[in-house]
Amino acid sequence: MEGKKIYIETYGCQMNFSDSEIIVSVMKDADYSFTNEMKDADLIFVNTCSIREHAEQRVRKRLSELNSLRKKKPHLLIGLLGCMAERLKDQLLHEEKAVDFIAGPDAYRNLPALVDLAGEGQKVTDVILSDYETYADINPVRLGGNGVSAFISIMRGCENYCAYCVVPYTRGKERSRDSETIIHEAKELFEKGYREITLLGQNVNSYKSVTPDGEIDFTGLLEKVADIDPLLRIRFATSHPKDLSDRLLMVMVKYPNICRSIHLPVQSGNTRILEKMNRKYTREWYMNRLTAIRNFLPECAISTDIICGFSSETVEEHHDTLSLMEWAKFDYAYMFKYSERPDTFAEKKYPDDIAEETKTKRLQEVIALQQKLSLESNKKDVGKIFEVLVERESRRSKDFVSGRNSQNKMIIFPRKDFVAGDYVQVKILRCTAATLIGEAD
Ligand code: 5AD
Ligand code: SF4
Repeated sequence: MEGKKIYIETYGCQMNFSDSEIIVSVMKDADYSFTNEMKDADLIFVNTCSIREHAEQRVRKRLSELNSLRKKKPHLLIGLLGCMAERLKDQLLHEEKAVDFIAGPDAYRNLPALVDLAGEGQKVTDVILSDYETYADINPVRLGGNGVSAFISIMRGCENYCAYCVVPYTRGKERSRDSETIIHEAKELFEKGYREITLLGQNVNSYKSVTPDGEIDFTGLLEKVADIDPLLRIRFATSHPKDLSDRLLMVMVKYPNICRSIHLPVQSGNTRILEKMNRKYTREWYMNRLTAIRNFLPECAISTDIICGFSSETVEEHHDTLSLMEWAKFDYAYMFKYSERPDTFAEKKYPDDIAEETKTKRLQEVIALQQKLSLESNKKDVGKIFEVLVERESRRSKDFVSGRNSQNKMIIFPRKDFVAGDYVQVKILRCTAATLIGEAD
């Protein structure tokens, strides 16, 4: 198969997109080439997500579409990678014959060998989860980016075992990547012209690695990356509220290039539900963390994740989520209906007993409230001046460019001679709930 072309389609979280860059790097090292055009591919990888049932359904639909391509291209090989690999290997490989080979999130170094075997007509899988694989030495091939912002994966897996969450089962044990390789990768990106990096992990606040000078935690890592250059912006995701320390906030205060934006998933505003979700904090603890962020970093944006209709959630408990949202004035939120996932604690112990219509109604209420809060947050920015890192031409018009401020809000403004990677002072003139519109100051 050497020299043949691979095409990769990615579903799910930023971590999965970051993994796709590692996958392409592994394949290029084995002399495969990469194509952005599916029609040219000899090999199609689908990097999948299991977080909600809907995500899996989308992938399954896609696999059956891809399968029909084989009629025109009998030698086409299709590989299923990522979080669905472990869960569905038997079904997809044997019963449905939808794919030729399967590789789980810790098996990507073996992909060239798996592809070789699949090319010989063998049905192969490698879904073994590792206690130590971090792909630390692999230099990701940056895909579809703008040459300005990139992700760096700093840890893998998760051991928080939130009752609803499939991630600990699909991605395995938590392990941190060696800090030197992270700093090296960040420096290299900066030298290549990148101006923004996002440090990625399921729970970055529990990062820990040993260096010749002793142990380094997430705060220490953040400082080292922020020290690379004041022109390099640093973001990170995702933080767990139980582990967000004042020390981290103090480091953010010290470094203006650590972006003023924290994604802090709350999931629910009710303590009984939080406890049942095994989130290990209360409503009050979460509010205390938000107060700490606002005290240390008054200009910091806060975004969150919310799940509606978890097992046994009452109307009053749902209202606690709404009231917490009002109190927190989140700038942005990702909002979901609870989706029961096989093998999780909740699936084994708690009934999925909230009617679908009720989940839908609660989700609609949460979305409507967030829409109002996002608009209010954006309206407060009208008249202010922000430093914006230009990312690309605006999708709406060739005469505009788009970029983000430190708070991670999307801002569009007249292009003039600005190019991706420029820092521009932009005055905000008007807004929608999703975008700020301004002009260079
Ligand atoms: N159902 C609905 N949403 C979920 N999430 C994780 N698992 C589930 C589930 N079973 C959401 C959480 C998490 C985000 C990445 O996805 O809000 O923070
Ligand atoms: Fe799931 Fe919790 Fe891990 Fe996030 S931190 S992936 S919600 S178990």
